[in-house]
Amino acid sequence: CGIVGILGDIEAAPRIIDSLKRLEYRGYDSAGVATLVEGKIVRRRAEGKLRNLENSLENAPLSGTSGIGHTRWATHGAPTVSNAHPHQAGAVSVVHNGIIENYLDLRDEIVAAGAILDTETDTEVVAHLINIAMAEGMSPKEAVAHVLPRLKGAFALALLFEGEENLLIGARKGSPLAVGHGEGEMFLGSDAIALSPFTDRITYLEEGDWAVVTRSGAEIFDQDNNKVIRPESRSSVTSSLMDKGNYKHFMAKEIHEQPEVLGHTLSRYFDYSAKTARVDGAQALKFKDLSRLIVTACGTAYLAGLVAKYWFEKYARLPVEIDIASEFRYRETPVGERDTALFISQSGETADTLASLRYCKEHGAAIGAIVNVPESTIAREADMVFPTIAGPEIGVASTKAFTCQLAVLAALALQAGRERGVLSPEREHSLVAELTEVPSLALKALGLEADIERLSQPLSKANNALYLGRATNFPLALEGALKLKELSYIHAEGYAAGELKHGPIALIDENMPVFVIAPYDGIYEKTVSNMQEVAARGGNIVLITDQRGARECGNAAQNTVVLPDMSDIVAPIIYALPVQLIAYHTAVFMGTDVDQPRNLAKSVTVE
Ligand code: G6P
Repeated sequence: CGIVGILGDIEAAPRIIDSLKRLEYRGYDSAGVATLVEGKIVRRRAEGKLRNLENSLENAPLSGTSGIGHTRWATHGAPTVSNAHPHQAGAVSVVHNGIIENYLDLRDEIVAAGAILDTETDTEVVAHLINIAMAEGMSPKEAVAHVLPRLKGAFALALLFEGEENLLIGARKGSPLAVGHGEGEMFLGSDAIALSPFTDRITYLEEGDWAVVTRSGAEIFDQDNNKVIRPESRSSVTSSLMDKGNYKHFMAKEIHEQPEVLGHTLSRYFDYSAKTARVDGAQALKFKDLSRLIVTACGTAYLAGLVAKYWFEKYARLPVEIDIASEFRYRETPVGERDTALFISQSGETADTLASLRYCKEHGAAIGAIVNVPESTIAREADMVFPTIAGPEIGVASTKAFTCQLAVLAALALQAGRERGVLSPEREHSLVAELTEVPSLALKALGLEADIERLSQPLSKANNALYLGRATNFPLALEGALKLKELSYIHAEGYAAGELKHGPIALIDENMPVFVIAPYDGIYEKTVSNMQEVAARGGNIVLITDQRGARECGNAAQNTVVLPDMSDIVAPIIYALPVQLIAYHTAVFMGTDVDQPRNLAKSVTVE
């Protein structure tokens, strides 16, 4: 969810909407605004996209210069109007991101005290608890200080109080929240993007902090209620609303930006004239002394890590232990001071990835982070940050951030190989020379778009699909299936091609599209044998390969996507592009909401 709060000198509601537009990437199930109108809290809320809230405000505008707003990704309670934030109890209105884990106990207590709850949400209990404390005579500040320690879970809150035109209170525990400083105006927001229309002067709250905000400034307290000073920083986020240029969707624009942003990212991490990886700060990861590297992430970022496992093991002889963050964080895996853990996240805010980072940090491991948002929480908590230079990614399904993560990981793997003395200078030079071709190869891959669009049309009629690959193409098969299901809602599975015969082969019939990702590499023959097993059972095959692979494969595949020949290390970066385009065009044919698929959010700050 996304949060914004304003103490301004002009009408708050239109400014809140402007900010919420930038926060829609955090969820878009429902949205709402509350402002103070002659001291009274007045709300407008709407189900679905922000556009619906805008319509409701056009029909019934809200005045008032103080207010809070929210865009929701539902956790407790369906995305209905009554469950939409802000929630209100008496003199208090609240917007909330995260989960109050003990809300059922708190609910019982509130009901026993005689309050009537209007919603199924965990958020409403916060408003009630604070309202009850205020009814007992506490000031808003005292009431918040009294209630916060009772809330379990990970959350960020912004609170508006009846009759208090010059007061907002914000709290952060596990979910991000920042204070924005204006000229005689003050703001609260989930991140620098939310605050970008108003100010670039930002104070990030730290874990457990809460802030009492008035038009003249913010008083910040830590979790023990000690007054603390947190540094103010200048945000580099620009206030212009991201636009789609000439593309129909942000996702299309972001897919097409890849040759350029891959060029930016690669040139940051490679010295092209010396033909070496040149990763500033890599010494913090202690590659030379490691007996294993821990890698943790979620979703598509996890799949980038899975590709990198093959690279670290092959080029640096460094064993990689990789897991999805929601599993890693609860596995009680032994981690110690001799370990290094690497976290990969586009947003830098994913709750499970952040919790895994903190687990490793507490146990003394060195922490590296590959993130696309340099001001994010994960970036701030890591010992060393390796930014992807992908630029803002708006489409919910990650594309350019994924390939840029791969570019950074390739550099780290080669750097590790050199530091560990297992990658000869000659080998490093030739690998780097191959990687310099990535931007031009990416451009050539995009040149296949018309063919891919054509073959995607029949796919939009399928109910299921299978993706197969071996080695670094196995994570790409997983990524292909993930993209297809999240964008087009077609059920898809990615499998290691060699595992086909152990189960999924039973699913093959003439209605099952099977995508085989097989560049002509050392393992091509093996993958093609698996493809023949599919062909023998009437499967409908799309082979994604290179020119050599297309010549050698016989006529088992009904369709082929033929990329230029390329070396092993660049293949997973480039093969990601046709995989993205297949999902994109299938979704466009199906008419789904490509940039904001149902039920998903770009940045998942709940576990
Ligand atoms: C969400 C997004 C995915 C993304 C994942 C991890 O599920 O929809 O596209 O891969 O979160 O996000 P992160 O920001 O940590 O890379």
